[in-house]
Amino acid sequence: MAAYLLGIDVSTTATKALLIDSAGKVVAVAATEYGFETPHPLWSEQDPAMWWYAAVQSIRRLLADAEIDPAQISAVGLTGQMHGLTLLDEAGVVLRPAILWNDQRTGAECDEIRTRLGKDQLVQVTGNDALTGFTAPKILWVRNHEPEIFARAKSFLLPKDYLRFRLTGVQATDRADGSGTLLMDLQSRDWSKTVLDALELPNEFVPKSFEGTEITGTISAAAAEATGLCQGTPVVAGGGDQAAGAVGVGAVQEGIVSLALGTSGVVFATVNRPVFEPEGRLHAFCHSVLGRWHLMGVMLAAAGSLRWYRDTIAPGVGYDDLLAPAADLAPGSEGLIFLPYLTGERTPHPDPWARGAFVGLTIRHTLPHMTRAVLEGVAFGLRDSFELMKGVGLAQIRQVRISGGGARSPIWRQILADVLGTELVTVNTTEGAAFGAALLAGVGAGIWPDVDTACATAIHVTGSTTPQAATMRQYEPVYQAYGALYPALKANFAQLSAL
Ligand code: XUL
Repeated sequence: MAAYLLGIDVSTTATKALLIDSAGKVVAVAATEYGFETPHPLWSEQDPAMWWYAAVQSIRRLLADAEIDPAQISAVGLTGQMHGLTLLDEAGVVLRPAILWNDQRTGAECDEIRTRLGKDQLVQVTGNDALTGFTAPKILWVRNHEPEIFARAKSFLLPKDYLRFRLTGVQATDRADGSGTLLMDLQSRDWSKTVLDALELPNEFVPKSFEGTEITGTISAAAAEATGLCQGTPVVAGGGDQAAGAVGVGAVQEGIVSLALGTSGVVFATVNRPVFEPEGRLHAFCHSVLGRWHLMGVMLAAAGSLRWYRDTIAPGVGYDDLLAPAADLAPGSEGLIFLPYLTGERTPHPDPWARGAFVGLTIRHTLPHMTRAVLEGVAFGLRDSFELMKGVGLAQIRQVRISGGGARSPIWRQILADVLGTELVTVNTTEGAAFGAALLAGVGAGIWPDVDTACATAIHVTGSTTPQAATMRQYEPVYQAYGALYPALKANFAQLSAL
């Protein structure tokens, strides 16, 4: 009897169910979309019941479309938006809407965490500085601002883990997603007693943690009734969307880096030891692969910068038509530089007030120069993450696997290869984190012996862009000039934001 694997991604915009076969081929996909609430400026919340409802819809539709016997599903793997806080009471009832990764309300609580632990100790233990998006500051925010709710809170779950709780009745997480809470010890790959004690959180407040391919529980009778899945189907831990997405493009070994060029731009590098950037400017998390970790740089407006530029300057123009005239220009856009901080920035400048800019305009510059400057500015911003990674010992980058909407442009791929000075390759898989979660499920079910084998079976390179030595050299002084602009303008950006 053929075996199938189900990956489920609880993302910010939809819950997607994806079925693959034991060769790693996608058999069926179904997604149910939803929005999020902004009850105050900078807040971002979702009702966890919506994730459950969307998952039920998606799984039911997927099973109907795939026309398979649910008993043929060997295991389920979960992934989802990271960092979101779902608070539960003693009986497992959700106490308030979940506070999401892109919520910015916790500036004071980040300071509180740094004060309670000391920034050095915080980074030493967790690998990370306190960022507003992470989970721990959200927990403190509820304690500080909604004490009556917090008094009833007995535990918390990350978004995909709330779905796990509804599917299996078990409160658990994986170590990649768990790292994004700021409550984990990077070295020991488990909850940090030091951090929990410093934040005065009881040990029982955190879910049990597992490696990505470990089985955390099985589909309950109630969940089987709701979804159409078989009672007893194993559910593996899975991973946060970034780690599972990296598995989904085969970025699981040191030296192979994933560059996801979507609205945001994520540089994800696997490492074989728990390294971190001393200032906490890179995220340092556990990977979904046992004995491996990852460093991550997140640029907030990557392909999002190009979309903004197109919609503002050339609305209605197709990307191919917009980008073609920029291809013939010399590297460096004749001294025009674009700063891509349109929605503030995370890596390398954790600065909500950072702003976008065109710097160096002259009367000679034309629209294609501006277009090229946008493509180059995003490439420089991504290179900043690569440079930070090299700075902490990621010596050899053998290959960069590029994915996401921006990866479709050959012009942008060439600029990126030249600015980064590495070969860029594309792969056959485009389903991202849900695909990675299905592969993790396959390892948990024993279809593949390990994640490396799962990736080697299902994922292969489809195309390559090589850097051109002469162009790489031309970009060096431009990248240096780019790097000097943010420090020079930082105070002006803060001033402009305050106006
Ligand atoms: C990762 C991050 C986002 C969310 C939402 O650190 O904040 O990727 O996981 O997708």
